[in-house]
Amino acid sequence: MSISIRQLTPIFAGEVSGVDITRPLSKGEVAAIEAGMDRCAVLVFHDQKPTDPQQQMFSRNFGELEHTAGANITKAQDRRLDPYMADVSNLDKDHKPLARDARTRMFNLGNRLWHSDSSYRAVPAKYSLLSGRTVVDKGGQTQFADMRAAYDALDDATKAEIEDLVCEHSLLYSRGALGFTELTAEERSMMQPVRQNLVRTHPVTGRKSLSLSSHIGTIVGWPMPEARAFIRDLAEHATQAQFTYAHTWRQWDLVMWDNRQLMHRVTRFDETQVRDMRRTTVAGDGLTVAQAA
Ligand code: OGA
Ligand code: MN
Repeated sequence: MSISIRQLTPIFAGEVSGVDITRPLSKGEVAAIEAGMDRCAVLVFHDQKPTDPQQQMFSRNFGELEHTAGANITKAQDRRLDPYMADVSNLDKDHKPLARDARTRMFNLGNRLWHSDSSYRAVPAKYSLLSGRTVVDKGGQTQFADMRAAYDALDDATKAEIEDLVCEHSLLYSRGALGFTELTAEERSMMQPVRQNLVRTHPVTGRKSLSLSSHIGTIVGWPMPEARAFIRDLAEHATQAQFTYAHTWRQWDLVMWDNRQLMHRVTRFDETQVRDMRRTTVAGDGLTVAQAA
């Protein structure tokens, strides 16, 4: 069976058929998926039932996997999944929904804000692959916004103004925006801000995109409040309905997105229900800008 991709909105997002991600892929199949990602930036695969190792094997077709260290405040002994699987569920290690005031849960609520995965790492993520093992039937959608289209729609003066701007990203900023500031000294020290260009060029297509994320706390050389007000303006522009796609989950969907070209967030759901989502993350291949000394 050969791979085909049906585009889901006028500008991006595609639904893939003709792939079983639990089997080894040919070079041609990998190339077809990469080409689909370059064009659509987010791809949906239905009826995929990977084990965690199979999800990792499929993900490795597209690059090295990110280790989850530094991405959350869950202690090693409380982890439910292996360290190459980001646990995006609302569950504790006994597979029970986390208490409302559990620190891990409050920290993970950061996913409700528009963001790009690992933009708080010096080398931000390339792809994220999220598998819906148990999904909820109300809410809990994943929304995506196309940062290429958002960039294209800026006026020329704004494009010129932002071309060389550099932002500082940290988990401290996205969590701080939600009022989650109770962090230990050790947690804070793993959240040192990193620098990313505000405008990024896709290495294959050459398209520019607006590299926004709720992890942004300032623009280098700007007063912080002015930077934050401007980043808010840009984020409001970039997440208008015409730039977005909302994915409503079916069990065993696998959704794969390009963090270099999109932002995403999860919508609210009843957290007494089990939502078991597991993510593998393909690391990026370099810095977007020189880091501060
Ligand atoms: C993620 C994420 C959104 C969701 O996995 O990176 O932000 O729908 N998840 O759970
Ligand atoms: Mn995310």
